[in-house]
Order: sequence, then C-alpha cells, then structure tokens
Amino acid sequence: MLWVGTSWKMNKTLAEATDFTNGLLDAVAGGAPAGVQPFIIPPATALTTVRAILGPDSPVEVGVQNAHWEDAGAWTGEISVPQAADAGASLVEIGHSERREFFAETDQTVNLKVKATLRHGLRPLLCVGEPAEVFASGGSVAHIMAQVAAALEGVDDVGRVLIAYEPIWAIGEHGREAGPDDIVAVFAALDAEYGDRVEAILYGGSVNQGNAAETLGVDGVTGLFVGRSAWQIDGYLDLLRIAAATV
Ligand code: PGA
Repeated sequence: MLWVGTSWKMNKTLAEATDFTNGLLDAVAGGAPAGVQPFIIPPATALTTVRAILGPDSPVEVGVQNAHWEDAGAWTGEISVPQAADAGASLVEIGHSERREFFAETDQTVNLKVKATLRHGLRPLLCVGEPAEVFASGGSVAHIMAQVAAALEGVDDVGRVLIAYEPIWAIGEHGREAGPDDIVAVFAALDAEYGDRVEAILYGGSVNQGNAAETLGVDGVTGLFVGRSAWQIDGYLDLLRIAAATV
C-alpha cells in the first residue's frame, strides 16, 4: 500500500478546508485508488470540519500535525492524542523538521509522542531528516538511522508506525528537489532495518507531479508526504493518480 498524503501546515481557513475536502470526497466516492492510502493532515482548527465532511467510514485517513505526550493537563497551547482522536484523527504527525527547528522538539519529546500515539491506538507519522551540511558530508544514513532509533526507543511493536524521510534541504519553497540518487542510500538503510516491520516509509520534500513517479520508483519508498504541490485539490488528486499508476 502506498501512503500518499499532505499536511497543510499553517494554511487554510474553514472555507478553504471545506472546498478541498468536498473535492476529495467526490474523488473517493467509489473508494480510494487501488493500492493507495490517502491521508490529509489539516490544521487542528479544521480537523472536525474535515472529518465531518469525509464521514466516519471514509477511505481517507485524517491526522494532526502535532500532539502532546500527556493525555491532559496544564499544557497551554497543546492538544493531546486523546483529544485528536476524539476530533476524528487517526494519524499523528511527529517531529517534522519545522517542529524540531522552531518549537524545540527533540529526539526525546518525539519518542514520548510516538509512545503516546501508539498507546491510544493511533498511527504515528514519524518525520526525520538531515540538514544540508550532513548531506554534503555524506552523513545522511547515519543521521537518519540515529533519529529513527531514538524516536522508536522502547517501542516494541512498530507495526503501526509510518516513517517519513524528509531531508531538510529538500523541504519548502527554498528546498532543492531531490533526485533518486540523493535518497537511494537512506531508503536502502531504512528498508533493510524497518521495511518489513513498519506500515510504510514515505519520502517528503518538494514532491510534485513531475517527480512523484520517479521517487516512488526508488527501492523502499512506499509513500509520499507532500506540502505545496498537494494544497490544491487538483494537485493532490493528480498525485493520487500518479501513485496508483505505479502500483
Ligand atoms: P513541501 O513540504 O512538499 O512543500 O516541500 C514537504 C513537507 O514539509 O512535508
């Protein structure tokens, strides 16, 4: 199963979220494309709206972009995994590089969040990625394997985990598109260690309609995690079609 989804980051009003989700609802009315698991990760403000439009039995999984490791309490500004589940999320994105860089997420808090997510029966979407200097010096594989090991420390059953490899140098409007040669070694290492144990191993960072098929052709890549190119419904539906055509 290829997991193909998007996080909207800090984008979309409720009206925009509604438009997108109505378009997706129509597109998956007859079921998701064979072999593809779609998912969308709206901002928390739009979670219940998105869930309500899709309905409880939708083939589309819905997630949150972050959740705290405690179930409840005095943590101003945070939401918990049980709250996310209550609002209709089945996925929790954890450790995106923007969270690590700007919100002081560490390997330790990422690990706590992975455990909290699994404890409540949701799927962690664990994001890992190396900075440009590490890539340039040939340290990508070691960096990524250490990040994943730290995030999964003490987790016995990783069967519900999704890993997203997102090189920091490839993400966002200043990112450089990665080619297969840039990511093949990391995917070989991730696949050898986790390929038959986790749910999927996704690639993310400047994925678009022009490079998606080639990226899915890299050994070990079993999904795409997309930002900008999937924020308009037509772009996202194109990516679902491209993925389905590679199955
Ligand atoms: P991008 O974002 O596709 O816009 O580069 C990817 C991500 O941050 O997951």
